[in-house]
Amino acid sequence: PQPGPLTAPVMGWNSWNRFGCNIDENLIKATADAMVSTGLRDSGYTYVDIDDCWMAGTRDAQGRLRPDPVRFPGGIAAIADYVHARGLKLGIYSSAGTATCQGLPASLDHETTDAQTWASWGVDLLKYDNCNNQGRPAYDRYKAMGDALKATGRQIVYSLCNWGDDEPWIFGPNVGGSSWRTTGDISASWGSVTSLLDQQAGLEPFARKGFYNDPDMLEVGNGSLTQDENVAHFSLWALLSAPLLLGNDLRSVSAATLNVLRNADVIAVNRDWGGSQGRRVADAGDQEVWAKPMSDGSVAVVLLNRGSGTATVATSAAALGLAGSSSYTTKNLWTGATGSTTGALSASVAAHGVAMFRVTRAGTLSAAPAAGTLQVSDL
Ligand code: GLA
Repeated sequence: PQPGPLTAPVMGWNSWNRFGCNIDENLIKATADAMVSTGLRDSGYTYVDIDDCWMAGTRDAQGRLRPDPVRFPGGIAAIADYVHARGLKLGIYSSAGTATCQGLPASLDHETTDAQTWASWGVDLLKYDNCNNQGRPAYDRYKAMGDALKATGRQIVYSLCNWGDDEPWIFGPNVGGSSWRTTGDISASWGSVTSLLDQQAGLEPFARKGFYNDPDMLEVGNGSLTQDENVAHFSLWALLSAPLLLGNDLRSVSAATLNVLRNADVIAVNRDWGGSQGRRVADAGDQEVWAKPMSDGSVAVVLLNRGSGTATVATSAAALGLAGSSSYTTKNLWTGATGSTTGALSASVAAHGVAMFRVTRAGTLSAAPAAGTLQVSDL
């Protein structure tokens, strides 16, 4: 594929998970303001994405999509101006079908007109859904929009939302996509988070810098998720090099939730590219180890406890692909504590929780790795 517009996964906020169709321009503007006042923008969350239900029920006389006159009386261009003035970017939504998932007009066979409309409004990202697709081939439908976006001359990040159907990890980069949904929709429960996580295992070969698997948007701060579950969800999505799209109400975000979302060490794991997204390196029932190589030669690791009681989760430098050093330094990315080890790494992890570390070779190399030995860059 051609190089895409991204060097790291998209970070921002999207209206769907918390608000569904209950959106309007006041919510979007207040959210943009909150992204600035909470410091989330300065932590890297820059996209403000309006999901389904922004459009009116019919196109205008020229065949163009138009905003719902009740929800967005001021129009989308004014919102784009509003968010741009705050150092943010605007995302919008449509479907590669005859109607959106909520039954509103969508973009199949209107690709050129719609892409030009969004570009003229100053839109910076398109999330392109898969509802009402008439059974037509995914590649053709998603390529038509990718080409139309490119033809506008405006840099518009193209986010594919076809739920893992038709192997989007194969065709996504070839239609101009920067990311592609790998699953059905997330919901704000531990069962949903772990189910989506399981569906990511094995997809890591398809992500590369600028092109990312998307395990769906964050539910941190929503529904029944506990603080430990929020930390686990965020840690794992960061490690997976997932787009980090917040889905909670930022106008009333709690300090505890902000502490999760603004953890700079965890965000840095998401932004870095050391040759692979995170992958599951050990699975012992309720205890799992997930790891991602970092470009500085360290490895980020999540020790996950899916069980309903506290448990010790353990791994080793060798299992993380870091064999061959006499000692290692560790940093716990949630407590900030630093330490050292000759190779063993373990933590007592709360139910539905994680411990997250960064492990770095610190000692003398004990031996040159034998040919064929797994290297960090292979992880
Ligand atoms: C689909 C998508 C969701 C959301 C809704 C909107 O279900 O997967 O992320 O965009 O449509 O209707």
